Amino acid sequence: MDVYEAVASRRAVRSFTDESVPRAALERVLAAATRSPSGGNLQPWHVYVLTGAPLAELKERTCERAEAGDPGDERQYRMYPPEPKSPYRERRSAAATRRFGALGIRREDMEARRAAVAANWRCFGAPCLLLCYIDRDMGAAQWADLGMYLQTVMLLLRAEGLHSCAQMAWSVYHRTVADVVAPPEELVLFAGLSIGFEDRSAPFARIGRAPLAETVTFLGDSASGGPGQPASS
Ligand SMILES: Cc1cc2nc3c(=O)[nH]c(=O)nc-3n(C[C@H](O)[C@H](O)[C@H](O)COP(=O)(O)O)c2cc1C
Repeated sequence: MDVYEAVASRRAVRSFTDESVPRAALERVLAAATRSPSGGNLQPWHVYVLTGAPLAELKERTCERAEAGDPGDERQYRMYPPEPKSPYRERRSAAATRRFGALGIRREDMEARRAAVAANWRCFGAPCLLLCYIDRDMGAAQWADLGMYLQTVMLLLRAEGLHSCAQMAWSVYHRTVADVVAPPEELVLFAGLSIGFEDRSAPFARIGRAPLAETVTFLGDSASGGPGQPASS
């Protein structure tokens, strides 16, 4: 699989089979992902991989909290601006409409939406969960490094025939996650990454992207260098 194919075929998969993830494949991916770049080569990611009993315990405990309507622990970082402005607001709402629309969930059906969101804490059925932490002393640049690391992992997983879904949702119940993982006190949970084989029978929507011209400005010679890549939808 070449890099373009890996990028194009990666998406947030939210329905997995229970087929276990081969340990050797995971180790290949995580060993290769150590080559991810980071400012000053700090490599600020701290990663835990859960399968089997610890993952079952985590799913059970977080699902219990979610089902009880528990709003979660004090937030350790802001997931989104409180009032995203245009065009972010519209992009987020369009993605949600596409995602829930594919599941047959109407906009006003908040109960069905909540149930779909609660599937986060079952890892959407995935048998493997990677949890990515960062030292609380780190700044914005190191948080960006975590994004690069996770994207590298997600692309390498595609090369192994695996899929994934990045999940900030785990940060909502970070205390329960910490009860199971027991990370050092100085670490903050950024996100989880559910990993597994896709359940191909499940409906899904491919989420579009803004046209290239909305997010990229060419200055200088490259501005006359040709039509470039068409925007995907
Ligand atoms: C850092 C990060 C956190 C995310 N958190 C969640 C999450 O908690 N739950 C979820 O269902 N999807 C989550 N997503 C998936 C995004 O919703 C998804 O990537 C986006 O809508 C684009 O869709 P696509 O990845 O299928 O192209 C997250 C993605 C990223 C990169």
